[in-house]
Order: sequence, then C-alpha cells, then structure tokens
Amino acid sequence: MGPVSTEPWWKSAVVYQIYPRSFADTNGDGVGDLAGVRAHLEHLVWLGVDAIWLSPFYRSPMADFGYDVADHCDVDPVFGTLDDFDALVADAHASGIKVIVDWVPNHTSDHHRWFVESRQGRTSAKRDWYVWRDPAPDGGPPNNWVAAFAPEPAWTYDEASGQYYLHCFLPEQPDLDWSNPEVEAAMHDVLRFWLDRGVDGFRMDVTHLIGKDPELADDPPEYLPIPHSALNDRPETHPLLRRIRTLLDAYPGDRMIVGEVYLLDTALVAPYYGDDDELHLSFNFPPLFTPWDATQWRAQIDKTVAELEPLSAWPTWVLSNHDNPRHRTRYDGDEGRARAAAVLLLGLRGTPFLYAGEELGLLDAEVPADRVVDPGGRDGCRAPIPWEPTLGHGWPGEPWLPFAPEAQTRSVADEKADPHSILHLYRRLLAARRGSEALQLGAQHMLAAPEGVVAWTRQTPAGDRRVVVVNFTDAVVRLEGTEALAASAHTTIEVASDGLGEGAAFTGALAPDQAVVLRPG
Ligand code: GLC
Ligand code: CA
Repeated sequence: MGPVSTEPWWKSAVVYQIYPRSFADTNGDGVGDLAGVRAHLEHLVWLGVDAIWLSPFYRSPMADFGYDVADHCDVDPVFGTLDDFDALVADAHASGIKVIVDWVPNHTSDHHRWFVESRQGRTSAKRDWYVWRDPAPDGGPPNNWVAAFAPEPAWTYDEASGQYYLHCFLPEQPDLDWSNPEVEAAMHDVLRFWLDRGVDGFRMDVTHLIGKDPELADDPPEYLPIPHSALNDRPETHPLLRRIRTLLDAYPGDRMIVGEVYLLDTALVAPYYGDDDELHLSFNFPPLFTPWDATQWRAQIDKTVAELEPLSAWPTWVLSNHDNPRHRTRYDGDEGRARAAAVLLLGLRGTPFLYAGEELGLLDAEVPADRVVDPGGRDGCRAPIPWEPTLGHGWPGEPWLPFAPEAQTRSVADEKADPHSILHLYRRLLAARRGSEALQLGAQHMLAAPEGVVAWTRQTPAGDRRVVVVNFTDAVVRLEGTEALAASAHTTIEVASDGLGEGAAFTGALAPDQAVVLRPG
C-alpha cells in the first residue's frame, strides 16, 4: 500500500509515454498497434508506472506519423479499432493504470473532411475554419512565418482559389483557426468524445500555438529561421485554455491536461498554468536540452522552482520523448549517466514523464538513408522496443524502423532476467516513489554540495523524508563538510543508480556518476 493522499492522482503519478507505432506489433505488419499495448500491460504493471500517454493513433495519412489527424474520433486501421481502444482502456483501468491520449488541436491533416471542404473555395462554409489569406502584394506568402522541420514558409499557395493557407508544420498539416467559435466547439466535442470513453486526460499538442495574432504580424527577423511554432506566445491562447479546463473539470475523477508548451524558457511556460484555471501540467523542456552538468542542472531546477512556485504550479520533468534524441544518446551513450539521470528525474518534485525504452537504456537507432521516414529527422528515438533477445525481438514482421544498437542485449526479457539492469533500477525507483509520500509529494529543499554534485531533500509535514544526491562527475566525490553531508547523516541507501550499497548505511561518498536515494535510519 502506498501513502494515502488527497492530492489529484496526476501529482504523484509517473507517466509512461508510448509511441504506438514502435511499442509492440501483434499482426506482423511491422507497425505497433493498440492490441500490442494491451498485450504488454503486464510489463507496465511489473515496472510500476501509474499512467500511460499514447501518442496519436487516430485516422491519419501519416505525413507526420499521426500528428496529422484526419479523423479525431476514430482509430487508424493500422493501430486497430475503437473496440481495441476500449478494451485497452478497460484492461489498463483494471490494472490500476490511467490512460492519457494525445489531442492535436492546432492543425489537422489536409485529408480531414473539414479541410477538404475548406479548400473547396472562398465561399465554402468551412473556409474560415482554417487560416486563408491573400498573397502579399508581391504575390508571395502573407507573412514571414517559417514552418517546422524545413526552413520553408509556413504558407502554401492554393492555385484554385488564389489564396495561401497557414501550416506551422508540414503543408499536409493546415492550422485551424481557433478564433472561430465553430472550431472551438468542434474541438471541444473531440475532448468530450474521449472523456466519455473513459480517458483520464490529454497531452495537448503544441498548446501555445492555438491562439494567434489576428494581424498575423511578421516574426522578428532576428529570430528567423526559428519556426513560428517555437515563437508563438499569445494572450489569445489563455481564454481558450480556461474554457478547455472548465470542460475537463466538469467531468468526475480528476481528468488532467498536460500541455506541450514548446517555448524554451520556463518563465514563458509558467503562464500556461493560469491561475490554476488553465493547464493542470505543462512540459518543461529546457532541462531536456541541458547537458549532463551539475551547475547547469542546478540552475534549471532553481529556475523551474522560481518560476512555478509563486503560481502554485506543479512541475513536470522529462528527459526523453518521440521528438528528441534519447537522453542516453545525448549523454554520450554513457549508461552510468543515464542511470544517474533516472534517479534525478524520479527524485525531483513534480510529475515525471518516461518515454518507452528509456527504462531499457536504449540508444537512438542509426537509421540508414534509405530507411529515413520522418520529415523532422526524429526516426532514431522512435526505434521499435526490443521485447526478446531472439531474432525479430518479439516483432512478428520487419518493423517500420530499424532496432536500436544493442537490441541484442537490451531486450525487455534480457533486462528483466538481470537484477543489475537499468530496467530493474527504474523498477526500484518507481517502487521507492510509491512507498514514500516525501518522494511523491514532499517539499523540496536544495542542499549545498561539492562541485559536480546536486543534492536535495524531500519532506512531508508528517515527517516522511528522503535525500537525493546526484554525482554528475566521473570521479569519486565525498560530501565532507557540506550541507549535503549533514542532511544525509544516519541514512541508508534505498536506491543507488549502480545498485551498489543498497540497504547499507550511507558513507558520504559517491562513486563516479552515481546517484542515490537515501532514507533515514
Ligand atoms: C508536436 C509533436 C510532434 C509533432 C508536432 C506537430 O511537437 O510532439 O511530434 O510533429 O507537434 O503536430
Ligand atoms: Ca501491427
């Protein structure tokens, strides 16, 4: 039994992101499916995660592998059916796992019936569901906004009607116009569709992009070619978020919305929590881009606390996802660092998001030129999960992307059988969190520590207490003479990133790249 708390589930939960294409394939077409997720729920229960977030599985031509949605309320046949989805939710809930789905509100696929109708001409009833504009006087795009993935204009010209349409991502992903109340109402219906089916929450794609400058003013030229999707930060978005929040909060059971606010400064992300009336949670990406360095990480932690605490906004932490190189890859392939980073991620105050495969210590796949499929260059982190050491790694057909290096030795089955594996480290960390209200919800106090070390305490008013110490260096470090040593007096190593010394009294020394969770006693 874990600690009993009256806080909403999503504050103490550990969320596990599943990229369905790459998780598990049941029919041999090389693409993971919802039945595959369902078949492996047992693994997630064994691991100890509280919730899964499913990247898009909706009908899609897959120009952006599902982030180009052609029907928000149906499952793409490659992933299965709505019945498969319902069965997955039922089984997940029966196993005590919450289900969060991806909601992509800023744009649709160009194959969506709304856009097909919008494109029919200037007088189409859905013309103003999207952002259509006349050409600039020189015939070029209406403004200087840059699309994501390629430094190209965020506008595509439509010969038939003589206008451009806006797409902050691919031309196959036209932006909806959220200033149109019909669009807002239609997207609210999508939320209700999934809430009524029992989902526990949403991950909201490019949240900060839905409200746009009505003037569509140029981006400052000094920022170009940064895509507009990384710059858009508008007051128009906030009333839209408040109405989304009201919709969610009207449902029973603490439904949650976590926003992808892709603005690379925590100070810009914080306002998206509103006055506890917008997002429940927001991803905080600056730490994900922070190198493995104690000073820089300490600065990111301090900045996150400083920006969010005044708002009583609950932080999130993430090291890897489907859009960026995996953290072990970013940390020079060093498994010791990847392990210490897991202790960091799961020891900080806030909701951690894991990305499927990081618990195996996977590296990015090296994808040969003739197998590159993503227009955004993100194939490497989307390599299939190796389930078995055998040929095919538990995939009945050739998967859509190559396996990561070391798949031979890093399959789930291999690592499950090896108590020293990083998989077992994640499992012990998740168990430690479940067993400690301090780790889940406790206050965080940063400690003075030697150079190269970041240390903090977590503590509840009732007296549950843990100390977390992370050695970012490749040398042995002693805490002698620092506040970190005083705080860790009379403690036992509960979890060590390298597994060494667990259950023994903490001596005040850390091995290279070692991170520990300490408990009193
Ligand atoms: C988000 C998604 C990314 C997608 C983009 C467009 O950034 O995480 O995968 O390509 O939005 O929907
Ligand atoms: Ca399949």
